Amino acid sequence: MLLLLGALLLLGGYFLLHVTLLRLPRCKSSARFDGKTAVVTGANTGIGKTTAMDLARRGARVVLACRDRRRAEATVQEIIQETGNNQVILMQLDLASLQSVRSFAENFLRSESRLDLLINNAGLLNGGKTKDGFGMIFGVNHLGHFLLTMLLLDRLKASGPSRVVNVASKAYTMGKVDFNCLTTLRDLALGGSDYHLFQKYCHSKLCNVLFTYELAKRLQGTDVTCYSLHPGYIKTEITRDFSFWSKIIGAPFLLFATDAESGAQTTLHCALEQGIEHLSGHYFTQCAPLMNIESKARDDATAKKLWELSESFCGLS
Ligand SMILES: NC(=O)c1ccc[n+]([C@@H]2O[C@H](COP(=O)([O-])OP(=O)(O)OC[C@H]3O[C@@H](n4cnc5c(N)ncnc54)[C@H](OP(=O)(O)O)[C@@H]3O)[C@@H](O)[C@H]2O)c1
Repeated sequence: MLLLLGALLLLGGYFLLHVTLLRLPRCKSSARFDGKTAVVTGANTGIGKTTAMDLARRGARVVLACRDRRRAEATVQEIIQETGNNQVILMQLDLASLQSVRSFAENFLRSESRLDLLINNAGLLNGGKTKDGFGMIFGVNHLGHFLLTMLLLDRLKASGPSRVVNVASKAYTMGKVDFNCLTTLRDLALGGSDYHLFQKYCHSKLCNVLFTYELAKRLQGTDVTCYSLHPGYIKTEITRDFSFWSKIIGAPFLLFATDAESGAQTTLHCALEQGIEHLSGHYFTQCAPLMNIESKARDDATAKKLWELSESFCGLS
């Protein structure tokens, strides 16, 4: 009896924690997106999928930019069925290949007349190298999205007011950009253990925040604004390639993670909320801008250097 009471109390406490302290604010915008087009990278699962689902519900034409055709086709069907919006399409994009990014952009620009919203959401925590020899985490989380944004920028400008939303992470606070390592090894750090991969992930998320900061400066005077964000601590597939032991160690923390729908709310806020245009370049968390962000995320010299190096890596300069 006592045991049952204890278990009930624990369950109740856990439930209370989720509906109070761990509950993430919701995007309050009721904006419709009819007649507008959005691209969401990594939209076949996790935060990207719930973001795409919400945009489809608002009437948007949604392009799911995904690498795994089979998984993504199933998601397209699921979104069409749930929202009744059949303007949901798949275009293949592997961010681990600059050639694939270029093909995606060509395909998109040829077949789509406008682009109102680009959501750079895809991300991973894997080791290995991209097709172009960059560290996988740097290549996918930063470089592929950098090139994608550059190639789609004119269409975003022509469709303005439009937005770029970069899904970063609070992990940026533990990140740094080692230009020496980047130029010599084409990677953000050395090592391939889960610990090293997590370090590289933090560095790549700082790159996302710095990229957004620099992009906003370069977009001044245009009708395009951009934002970076932390979605919260969300239960998704992001650690799918971690070792067995890392997963065991991380399992208790998952009790404090929230669902992917909650994780999409700050992305949706940055994408849809009116009146935040003057905050272009800012980093958002819990559907609000973080005004006292760490100075390394506002380092003009680092942001400019990262931009120029990324241009050169992508063959744009
Ligand atoms: N979950 C969290 O707690 C958390 C916290 C902070 C920030 N974030 C950020 O949120 C974003 C979404 O992550 P998530 O948590 O939803 O993880 P997820 O469930 O693992 O989804 C990641 C998505 O990225 C895609 N992706 C990976 N590599 C790709 C590539 N080479 N080309 C194209 N797409 C690729 C995946 O496609 P496949 O299914 O084909 O692999 C998947 O659709 C990421 O940027 C992540 O860094 C997440």
